[in-house]
Amino acid sequence: MALFHSLRVKDIYKETVDCSVITFDVPENLHEVFDFSAGQHLTLRAIINDEDVRRSYSLCSSPLDKEWKVAVKQIPGGIFSTYVNEDLKSGDVLQLMAPSGRFGVPIEKERPKNYIAFAAGSGITPMLSIIKTHLAAEPEATFKLLYLNRTVKSIIFKEEIEQLRNQYFGRFEIFYFLTKEQRDIELFNGRFNSEKLQILTDTLIDVSTTDEVFICGPEEMIFLVRDALVAAGLEKEKVHYELFVTGLSEEDKKRAVRLAEQKVEGIEVTIIDGGKEFHFTMTKEYDNVLDAALGAGADLPFACKGGVCSTCKCKVEEGSIEMKINYALEEDEVAQNLVLSCQAVPTSDKVKVNFDV
Ligand code: FES
Repeated sequence: MALFHSLRVKDIYKETVDCSVITFDVPENLHEVFDFSAGQHLTLRAIINDEDVRRSYSLCSSPLDKEWKVAVKQIPGGIFSTYVNEDLKSGDVLQLMAPSGRFGVPIEKERPKNYIAFAAGSGITPMLSIIKTHLAAEPEATFKLLYLNRTVKSIIFKEEIEQLRNQYFGRFEIFYFLTKEQRDIELFNGRFNSEKLQILTDTLIDVSTTDEVFICGPEEMIFLVRDALVAAGLEKEKVHYELFVTGLSEEDKKRAVRLAEQKVEGIEVTIIDGGKEFHFTMTKEYDNVLDAALGAGADLPFACKGGVCSTCKCKVEEGSIEMKINYALEEDEVAQNLVLSCQAVPTSDKVKVNFDV
């Protein structure tokens, strides 16, 4: 069952012209349910023009502050982000699922760790939570933030980041990179590219003393940065990333096209959710298990419907399923037969999937 809680908007303000920050009023009796770790996200739901719209947003507050805040950047034509930025006000009620996601690492108080964060635009939101949390909870931790934006005015959370730099002077360093404004130092102009990353790993970043690296931004930036750091000698396991999906790779496109041609009509599907079984037969208007199940009347958890958030994950117990794209599940989870139902195309005549995982 998709379990949503009605929560009141305690505060909403504009952080930049096109980005609103919402603070939720989480009552005492839900503190345990909404307990989170830095890097996790919330799924928000609203009925907008009679449509059930859901989106996931990273929490940008620290769990240490017992505050639940997300930043919503307006996307041109985006239904939910436009609603938040133009209509939502303090006192309104939204539906929220409990925090989820695996971006981030556990707090290690005893070990002095050196962290690096690469963020682009609204990719700063999980980073802010991670930076605040680790600097506060690990007295000897250091953080370097490399933050890419178009202009100074478009930098989300600039003031809060500057305050953190003062608060943790000597432990927290920030390097701003801008794409649409010129800085004096050429290195800080433009996007990350191979040459720039080479200079960074030769000067600002010492991979031999780096413990964890966090990257949040579009796909091409994530893999470019990860590969450059690994080439410079950093172990791959130390790199953690959260994707903002901008496009599909050639391989993903080919698989999505092949699966779109797969005949799903007539496939017998059994869903287990909340310990109960639900049966239906897929019809040709749907091309994935989640949409087909929702169309047949099931109430299942989902948010992005884009293979990114993993809210819709389930386990294949019978039959076979292929995913069109998967940006959310790790290799070991796929090996345990977990799939994203929003991307799941049955490849056998009968399938049984379990959402109680
Ligand atoms: S709903 Fe987000 S991955 Fe399926």
